[in-house]
Amino acid sequence: MSILSLVFFGLIFYLLILGILILFPFPFQHWAMYLNFAKFPFFVDFNRAEEFGFRSGSVKSFKIKTKDNLLLGAWHIFPHRFIPKPNPQQYQQEIDESSDLDKADIVFLYFHGNAGNRATFHRTDFYKMMTSLNINSHVIAIDYRGFGDSSFAIPTEKTVRIDAISAYDWIVDQGVNPRKIIIVGHSLATDLAYTLDLKQTQLGTPPCGGYASIADAAIGYPMVPVLLPFHGFPQLEKWIKSKIVDKWSSHLKMSSITTPILIMHGLKDFEIKPWQAEANFLEAISGRTGNKVVDDGYWEIRNRPQKAKFEHKDVQGLSITHLDHEGELWSLNSDENPVWLLRVTHAGHNNLSRHLVVKATIESWLENFPSK
Ligand SMILES: *[C@@H]1O[C@H](CO)[C@@H](O)[C@H](O)[C@H]1NC(C)=O
Repeated sequence: MSILSLVFFGLIFYLLILGILILFPFPFQHWAMYLNFAKFPFFVDFNRAEEFGFRSGSVKSFKIKTKDNLLLGAWHIFPHRFIPKPNPQQYQQEIDESSDLDKADIVFLYFHGNAGNRATFHRTDFYKMMTSLNINSHVIAIDYRGFGDSSFAIPTEKTVRIDAISAYDWIVDQGVNPRKIIIVGHSLATDLAYTLDLKQTQLGTPPCGGYASIADAAIGYPMVPVLLPFHGFPQLEKWIKSKIVDKWSSHLKMSSITTPILIMHGLKDFEIKPWQAEANFLEAISGRTGNKVVDDGYWEIRNRPQKAKFEHKDVQGLSITHLDHEGELWSLNSDENPVWLLRVTHAGHNNLSRHLVVKATIESWLENFPSK
């Protein structure tokens, strides 16, 4: 086969896939977007968290019932400090009562991104880091419907929101003060933080203590390879984005989140480009200050070379702290609800938690909470 016919058939194949995705958004876009059938790691026994390096007794697998009566697989990961250390005299010890969820200093509610499940390795790395902070911190990690051992369903933007609210309500039902809940996660999580914020604000209760976003930003490129040819052409981008049914437009919600925000990402992330985290940060400070400091479509940030010096002279109260060779910490100085952006020089898409500056920054951010 000649190169020319290869290109020709490749093009036909591409247009076929694109056509199917546009003409039959449900379920094809959902499959392509959530990749929940890619249950990596496969054949997980969620009751055997030792397989992923957790201490015995430190992870409890359970189910959370959603408002529409589905069951979500969930993990409760206890703080390291409560798990007895191995010693020659005594093999097993009881975990003491102060490990109960309602006695936690902080409960992290973790929302994972697409594909895999709650046991995917970089996620378990993150739980381990969050449960070994210098405070009594617990993690609740859920699998959305259709993921892991949760009820079978094709997840959609609307139903994943129901799952998020159900998990949040479950934590509050355990007697945890909403101010101690921190929503943390990847791409979808910004949207879920916003949803929870909106719901609780309407009810007149505090939504949560804060919101931490990891690595990615989901600014309109959920189906990256298929959309790549549209990249860089504003009109085409706009058109193709209008065809995506589940938009998860995190960036547009960022400015409306009213709780303290911490965004963290690796500068060696080649899947979700660093400018996306920067755009999210600038959206968040736009919301705080009431001045829009970022252009629509983010063309300015996208076209700025990676190494170019950051200049936002007109952003009042913005400070950039250089952390030697570890990275940079950008922050909007405000007593109420701090917004921080941690850029880790050597971290990639899936290994933020292996960089200790991340743990140290989370601790420092928690110390800066207005409620403290
Ligand atoms: C994290 O990932 C990046 C990019 O893949 C890589 O260059 C770096 O060495 C990794 N760091 C650690 C500590 O694993």
